[in-house]
Amino acid sequence: MLPLFKKPLLAYHAGLFILVVVTGIAAAQLTSEYIILGSILFVEYFILLVIMLHVYDKFMKPIKKTSHTVDELLKGNYRVRIHHSASGRIAELNNKLNALARNLSEFEIQEQMQEDRLSTVIDNTQSGLVLIDEKGYIHLVNRKFISMFGGNAHDYQGYLYYDVLANETIHATVQEAFLYEKNIKYSFTQTIDIDTKYIEIVGAPIFNERGILKGAVLLLYDITHLKKLELMRKDFVANVSHELKTPITSITGFAETLLNGAKDDDESLDRFLKIIYDESFRLQGLIEDLLTLSRLEADEFQLTRSHVDMNQLTEEILPVIEQRAKQGGITLTTNVKNDTTLKADGERVKQILINLLTNAISYTGQNGTVNLTVAYEGEMVHIQVADDGIGISQQAVTRIFERFYRVDKARSRNTGGTGLGLAIVKHIVEVHDGNISVESEPDNGSTFHVYLPKNDPASS
Ligand SMILES: Nc1ncnc2c1ncn2[C@@H]1O[C@H](COP(=O)(O)OP(=O)(O)OP(=O)(O)O)[C@@H](O)[C@H]1O
Ligand SMILES: [Mg+2]
Repeated sequence: MLPLFKKPLLAYHAGLFILVVVTGIAAAQLTSEYIILGSILFVEYFILLVIMLHVYDKFMKPIKKTSHTVDELLKGNYRVRIHHSASGRIAELNNKLNALARNLSEFEIQEQMQEDRLSTVIDNTQSGLVLIDEKGYIHLVNRKFISMFGGNAHDYQGYLYYDVLANETIHATVQEAFLYEKNIKYSFTQTIDIDTKYIEIVGAPIFNERGILKGAVLLLYDITHLKKLELMRKDFVANVSHELKTPITSITGFAETLLNGAKDDDESLDRFLKIIYDESFRLQGLIEDLLTLSRLEADEFQLTRSHVDMNQLTEEILPVIEQRAKQGGITLTTNVKNDTTLKADGERVKQILINLLTNAISYTGQNGTVNLTVAYEGEMVHIQVADDGIGISQQAVTRIFERFYRVDKARSRNTGGTGLGLAIVKHIVEVHDGNISVESEPDNGSTFHVYLPKNDPASS
């Protein structure tokens, strides 16, 4: 098409010009008054030009603008609007077009919002998520997945899963989910930096509305804490069994010896009965400690806080402790500031003092000293138990609050210890919203610090 016809205004103008020239030539045949003829032609040209401009402005220009707007909408720009003032059908068309553009842009906003919401949910789920299409290409990986496997989304998205994921268990999960068209579950370990994580993977096939397989979604759960709990539980059962076995073996052994005739010898009878008695006592202590721990850990555990006077409480436990200190040749001093009171479970606080003081006495040699001080420190009551005994090495200090942990098993067993005392203390301190710490050095004694809130934190 000639370039002239692409510009309608110019084309009309050219048409108009030709029309005027043709009329001029035709009229020139009829008259020789060129001045009159010229004037008539000029007026005719002018009138036709005005009519043409009017027609152009009224119809052609709005149609051009409308067509431009439609082009923009087709390109996906839904914010475009027609502002041209028009009337009649053109105005109606413009209004409808503007309404359509508004609807489309509303729709786009809604869609964007939904997409944002979905990606927020996907990115913030606590499980890794991978979306794979039916050809094996990865379409989506979420943030958690990246934190588990490293790299960034671009290292995975758009690639075949077996090209970018080296893990055999993941391959098997995808393949079986595709093959059997049902959920597949496996678990594996994954080393992230230096941490080993236990991961459970579930592969679920995705079907379209006609039931045709369209891909698979993989969900990866970090089950490290569950595995650790399971390990702890196994360890705990093994430890309990081991601790129970020793006294029970001893009781059975000595009872058997007595039954086999030793009971007739008075001296053996006394000695063996004493051993049986001591071992049963030990067994009883162990079972009581285990019960205390399990009560403290129970979900429904409730503290019964009351007004506790630390002076009075210390007086109540001192007779037993003093006797133990005397037996061990240890000087025991106490310094409880007057009027130190707190809202706490008295019996449990007593247990803290007994356990810490018994330890201090047990792990301090002859002529040693053990000191108990109790005083306010801000909003807390500070209980300090210091000794100048054998002390604890740096690496053992971090473990002494674990159940059954004993630095020197033989020595602790001699003192009747099972390694549960400090675990109980720690639990009691924690249920009171307090904290416990220890300073110690081998051969230089140990100082245990317990801080308990003066008031019940729940009531303030
Ligand atoms: N004051 C202390 N000085 C040196 N070592 C200590 C002291 N208190 C605790 N320990 C170490 O911490 C370990 C754990 O203490 P914990 O009170 O839990 O167990 P235990 O005293 O062995 O047994 P029990 O269950 O009878 O208290 C002890 O075996 C001991 O090795
Ligand atoms: Mg102890």
